[in-house]
Amino acid sequence: MIKETDFLVIGSGIAGLSFALKVADYGKVILISKTTLDESNTKYAQGGVAAVTYEPDNFHKHIQDTLICGDGFCNHEVVEMVVREAPAQINQLIEWGVQFDRNNTGKFDLGREGGHSEHRILHHKDNTGEEIETSLVKKVRQHKNIEIYEQYFAVEVITQHHLGKLVKRSYTDTECYGAYVLDLKTDQVHTFLSKVTLIATGGTGNLYDTTTNPPIATGDGIAMVYRAKGIIENMEFIQFHPTSLYNPGERPSFLITEAMRGFGAILKTADGKEFMQKYDRRGCLAPRDIVARAIDHELKIRGDDFVYLDATHLDSEKLKEHFPNIYEKCLSINIDITKNLIPVVPAAHYLCGGIKVDLNGQSSINHLYAAGEASSTGLHGANRLASNSLIEAIVYADRAAKDAIQKIKHVEINKTIPEWDAHGTTYPEEMIMITQNYKEMQQIMSNYVGIVRSNLRLERAMHRLEIILTETEELYKKSILSQKLCELRNLINVGFLIIKMAQDLHESRGLHYTLDYPKKGNVSEF
Ligand code: FAD
Ligand code: SIN
Repeated sequence: MIKETDFLVIGSGIAGLSFALKVADYGKVILISKTTLDESNTKYAQGGVAAVTYEPDNFHKHIQDTLICGDGFCNHEVVEMVVREAPAQINQLIEWGVQFDRNNTGKFDLGREGGHSEHRILHHKDNTGEEIETSLVKKVRQHKNIEIYEQYFAVEVITQHHLGKLVKRSYTDTECYGAYVLDLKTDQVHTFLSKVTLIATGGTGNLYDTTTNPPIATGDGIAMVYRAKGIIENMEFIQFHPTSLYNPGERPSFLITEAMRGFGAILKTADGKEFMQKYDRRGCLAPRDIVARAIDHELKIRGDDFVYLDATHLDSEKLKEHFPNIYEKCLSINIDITKNLIPVVPAAHYLCGGIKVDLNGQSSINHLYAAGEASSTGLHGANRLASNSLIEAIVYADRAAKDAIQKIKHVEINKTIPEWDAHGTTYPEEMIMITQNYKEMQQIMSNYVGIVRSNLRLERAMHRLEIILTETEELYKKSILSQKLCELRNLINVGFLIIKMAQDLHESRGLHYTLDYPKKGNVSEF
């Protein structure tokens, strides 16, 4: 099958859905998603969306908080732009039907999270992501110009390479003509040709054995763009969320939102002692990199499996009212958060780096945009400020949409692209090759490329990953494609990028901490 469209959108989280809605009045949109439309990291977001609404908050404070958290690596222009454009995009979400909680005076009920100097997080209870995802999916399904393909898995973006021409990362004339996409119900690879393409495939938490991310987060878009010779950056900055519920065997790990610490909950070691003040004067509300590292350190020196989050001193009715899903979830494993301490551990949560884009979300490949967690805009620097990612995704979807609407007027669909060549491939004889390599990859990344790194650990990780890369590439060449195989290949690609970029950074900064260079280098700081 060959399909043609003006706008090809890969991914149906907040970035893909909002871009689709913004361009749909200007041309035909094809929206593809590898599972059902609603399944995404977006759906699981809890804390909310950061944006300046009322005094005493102001743009300057949100900008400063973002810059401090980013530890000297943020792009100032981007930070200014996102913070200033955020309120308009909050209004856009509300127009699309998203409901944010309000207090009894009708004002937004603003939450607070680590690194924020003010209450500025708009939220819907403790399931903000579900509220956003459900509202946007409903809108997208109603739009007559949006054609939806669920259970379709993007395999490669199409460039001149597929016409037999040489493409290099240094070339500035590489063009994207669409994507090859695997129909997961028939195992056929189809050609989707487009004038412009948006990668909105989200993050890569499944590289690690403990993650808050659902199974869809396998770095597909980043790996595809890397293979297509696009520029990828800042991959070493993997954010570990300090507080995921310690519940062995559960995957993904259930998140205990940082907003609960903003509400007054306190971190304690197993013997009931507070410890965060030892590490940072902001205590439990220090930025995430500091809190996650402090927990990791306490667990290592004490030999414990988890620390506790204590919310028992808080008003129990208000706690239940603000965090109803967390209350129910914990109760289901016999933890009443109004009476019992909650066991928590850090978990891989967010990727700050990704596909390098400009202020309009345009990647280094022409006609190819990226938005959301798959992209690297410069907003987060070396560490993302809590609740700054949903807002980044929608601000950039808006900017990319405006740019793409103009671009399609001057672009023709390339009709000379060959169909996918599956000649000589067969179904793999044993799936165990894939599942075993998947587990090994997660162990390598968790043990050697986690919260604390070192030269030796990174080198080990690189060698081990090379072995499973070779095996996986051999299997890929001779196999009829499957989702598991493609995801494993993508994750290994992304793992390499993380290790390589971590090896190249000879300092500790933000989320990247290495025992060999425990201090920041001489890059300018705030
Ligand atoms: P996603 O929402 O992850 O969507 C990616 C989409 O791409 C999915 O539809 C997926 O199926 C599809 N896809 C992926 N690969 C392919 C492929 N090969 N082919 C076809 N489709 C593909 N951020 C905040 O700002 N505030 C919060 O409170 C917050 N809480 C969070 C809580 C949790 C538990 C988690 C996991 C994250 C949280 N985050 C939060 C981060 C935030 O949710 C994500 O960064 C954001 O939702 C990413 O949106 P996205 O549109 O880029 O990607
Ligand atoms: C949380 O609710 O703690 C997650 C917020 C985020 O990842 O931005």
